[in-house]
Amino acid sequence: MKNDMIIVLDFGGQYNQLIARRVRECGVYCEVYPYSLPIEDIKRKNPRGIILTGGPNSIYDEKSPKCDRELFSLNIPVLGLCYGAQAITHCLGGKVESAPASEYGKTEVELLKDSALFKDIAGEESLKAESGYVKNICWMSHTDYIVEAPEGFEVIAKTPICPVAAMQCEEKNIYAIQFHPEVMHTRDGEKMLRTFVLDICKCEGTWQMDAFVEEKITQIKETVGDGKVLCALSGGVDSSVCAVMLSKAVGKQLTCVFVDHGLLRKNEAEEVEGVFGANGPYDLNFIKIDAQQRFYDKLAGVTEPEQKRKIIGEEFIRVFEEEAKKIGAVDFLAQGTIYPDIIESGLEDSAVIKSHHNVGGLPDYVDFKEIIEPLRMLFKDEVRKAGLELGIPEHLVYRQPFPGPGLGIRIVGDVTAEKVKIVQEADAIYREEVALAGLDKSISQYFAALTNMRSVGVMGDFRTYDYAVVLRAITTTDFMTAEASQLPWELLSKVTTRIVNEVNGVSRVMYDCTGKPPATIEME
Ligand code: XMP
Repeated sequence: MKNDMIIVLDFGGQYNQLIARRVRECGVYCEVYPYSLPIEDIKRKNPRGIILTGGPNSIYDEKSPKCDRELFSLNIPVLGLCYGAQAITHCLGGKVESAPASEYGKTEVELLKDSALFKDIAGEESLKAESGYVKNICWMSHTDYIVEAPEGFEVIAKTPICPVAAMQCEEKNIYAIQFHPEVMHTRDGEKMLRTFVLDICKCEGTWQMDAFVEEKITQIKETVGDGKVLCALSGGVDSSVCAVMLSKAVGKQLTCVFVDHGLLRKNEAEEVEGVFGANGPYDLNFIKIDAQQRFYDKLAGVTEPEQKRKIIGEEFIRVFEEEAKKIGAVDFLAQGTIYPDIIESGLEDSAVIKSHHNVGGLPDYVDFKEIIEPLRMLFKDEVRKAGLELGIPEHLVYRQPFPGPGLGIRIVGDVTAEKVKIVQEADAIYREEVALAGLDKSISQYFAALTNMRSVGVMGDFRTYDYAVVLRAITTTDFMTAEASQLPWELLSKVTTRIVNEVNGVSRVMYDCTGKPPATIEME
């Protein structure tokens, strides 16, 4: 695997995450590093190819990130995309200027048929082709453009605005594209990346998740030696996959700490303990901390959502820290950080961000020698694949996301043990019925939450004045935007009847039809 790797150098663009993913989809392992990764490090990693990403800067600004000229003497194929293409141009003596008009979105581009990069690209049937070129659709997003290719380069694509929409120096295996092949709106973009990775870089394309898992397990063994590792386990997909990987690598040198903050779904603590505890299949130490009352005490009377989040995060840290001290002499902290967590805070100082992100903000003063984050280059669906490779049961691997602050942000207003119980029961009924209706795999996330509203009802001959539960179900791919799912009325009706009949303290059930934006997925 080590010899068959592509390095993506990140110049800060918005599609960077996609590039790594597209490369891995070609069966080639890929890692993303800051553009400033020293040449010596690149040499040591011995990649088959290097991809330079887009970015928001203007290359002719003094402070903007630049390429190291030595990059082009390593005899490793290089592909620059958007800003990356301009960085190559600038570095090798071509000319980049501010374009007379910006190009954003779908744009017609003419591709030189004979270029190795555009192999097998037929172009748009409906667009008239010029001799030697095929017309295609690409995704553009730029204000600057390349006006003059560096010496030794041949122009291989153009648009009505861009005289150099792509260029190549075949002799040195350097390619540069102004548009974004990684974005699905570029017709055959993924074919271009595949050609670069497999034909030009000569990668084998045989990498699969099992190789990644094996490699990581070996790396972890080497890093940890005979040291002790602590892992904050929430039972969610990322931390579970991380824990199992660690367990395969170092067995009982690993201690997983699971904090029950009293804001978990019904039976969740028991389920997590069943899988990871002493009777479960994994070789690790498991500690469950019952800290419910501590959290309820801290949250008493607090209604402001951000304050609630902060209290839960802070208290989590305290509990975790106390446990770390009790175990003592723990050198390593393992976290299930995944790539989207890293980009939230920028790649440059990702290690620090990670330790602050995953468990609601681990403090710097918990004294660990090193943080281990084996999943930090993967996306959620890739983590799931790794989980399956590790033999984790499907029902755990395909769990829907559950936020760190748990039911604390699904109870609008102040949190009490009584309200937690209501929302746990209502949510359990909802989940059971959604699964019975066969919809549990097609809805991205669904849960019951408790509004802070009480309203008048009638049950039997009595007046009631109880809470309203709200049901939420959304469909999304990235959880950044979402649509409310259109659940069958029979299902909603059955869930409503069951909740009102079976859960004390609820007299009304509502369905949340709001998308994101303008709402968020969680209530708070
Ligand atoms: P929102 O509510 O921001 O949620 O639309 C987007 C996704 O993120 C999850 N979420 C969290 N996950 N810690 C987490 O680990 C949190 O504090 C948190 N807040 C929201 C949410 O469940 C949804 O999947």
